[in-house]
Amino acid sequence: MDKFIINGPTPLRGSIAISGSKNAALPLMAAAILGDSPTTIRLVPKLKDIYTFNNVIRVTGTSVQFDEEYNSLTIDSGNLGFAEAPYELVRKMRASFYMLGALMGKTGEAKVSLPGGCAWGPRPVDLHLKGLEAMGADIRLEKGYVMGSFPGESVPGGVYELNPSSVGATVNLILAAVRRAESFTIKNAAKEPDVVLLCDTLAKMGANIKGAGTDTITIQRVESLKGIETSNDPDRIETGTYMIAAAMHPESSLTLTGCKPKDLGSFPDQLRKTGAVVTINNDTIQVDAPESIKPVSIETQIYPGFPTDLQAQWATLMTQAEGTSKISDNIYFDRFSYVPELKRLGANLSVKENCVTVSGPSKLSGTSVMSTDLRASVSLVMAGMIADGETEVLRVYHLDRGYEDLEDKLNQSGSSITREDGD
Ligand code: UD1
Repeated sequence: MDKFIINGPTPLRGSIAISGSKNAALPLMAAAILGDSPTTIRLVPKLKDIYTFNNVIRVTGTSVQFDEEYNSLTIDSGNLGFAEAPYELVRKMRASFYMLGALMGKTGEAKVSLPGGCAWGPRPVDLHLKGLEAMGADIRLEKGYVMGSFPGESVPGGVYELNPSSVGATVNLILAAVRRAESFTIKNAAKEPDVVLLCDTLAKMGANIKGAGTDTITIQRVESLKGIETSNDPDRIETGTYMIAAAMHPESSLTLTGCKPKDLGSFPDQLRKTGAVVTINNDTIQVDAPESIKPVSIETQIYPGFPTDLQAQWATLMTQAEGTSKISDNIYFDRFSYVPELKRLGANLSVKENCVTVSGPSKLSGTSVMSTDLRASVSLVMAGMIADGETEVLRVYHLDRGYEDLEDKLNQSGSSITREDGD
């Protein structure tokens, strides 16, 4: 397993090009399966989760061609003959569960493995399944697999209210409904940009979807969907991660290009409260670090609130703030595996229920720490970049799931990060 050796402290100066979004690409790839002709998606990042999903899709007989030079992915479900997603692949990445909606929408039935647990808790899929039943589908659980089918060519549909709002369930229900439900309404639907992009893309393919970006989405059945050429969106979590990283060292001044600032919701304003200067100009965002960082407490919320996927990075920034801040996660209540690792670097944090209290500023000094999940891993890399001396971050394979060319991008902006073999 690869590890990173990071020498710090180093400021970030220069420019980083933002990659395509992982979490937006995955629903688009599932949507492409629904088309009656091939779909090409541009701006697809070269990430482990994308390769995993390519393989999940290929199991069905669907052709997937990834032109890595141009980050362009073509999916052709013309030869789809096997509507299954096996445990061996689904357990590697939860979003493989999107195959349930995509395959039921395409063929009328599917057999998809339940995804199992995850590093920070149980992460259920009950809403996906109850929503499909509300649509009129038959759902059975058998030996760890979900067997889903529609009783006829189409079902009348209905209304289902998600509680809590869920990105994954919204995506799965849309995928299943577009070609099968006469009329289906999702209440308390996810408003995340990833869902809006999915709806816009399906609409280009011929789907009839109203209300994307609001909390009520209504889908009316269409007989067929055509393949299209389309583009993925830039990664808002990668953007937010580098914005936070740029605020951590007083000499940092970082420009991010190819961003979609609108997708960041309330996040840039939160970062400004720390004293960082955030300048947005079309698709470019510049962050100039403050002389001293003001403590800013945050609570994660659904979009456009503060994203849970930036919570660990924010806690890392707060270790350098002049005072105490509180970080509450209202989406996932125990996503704090990074806390003991940051403590090993010298940070002062404590966890109570779903809230981390951070007392800063702490002088961090390099040592060995271990990655436990994607966002926790990147927060440890960021801590290593401002810690004195050498920090060793073990098990960086988590990072390879979600950050394209992370060490190259950061090294070009002044960091010293080396990838080595070994654990
Ligand atoms: C997606 C993102 C993930 C992000 C999360 C929240 C992808 C691939 N992943 O995950 O990076 O952290 O949104 O923004 O896009 N819930 C249920 N029952 C369900 C489904 C969800 O109770 O059937 C709960 C979850 O436990 C959680 C909340 O709903 O508390 C939101 O989860 P959800 O939006 O579904 O997250 P994912 O789609 O899995």
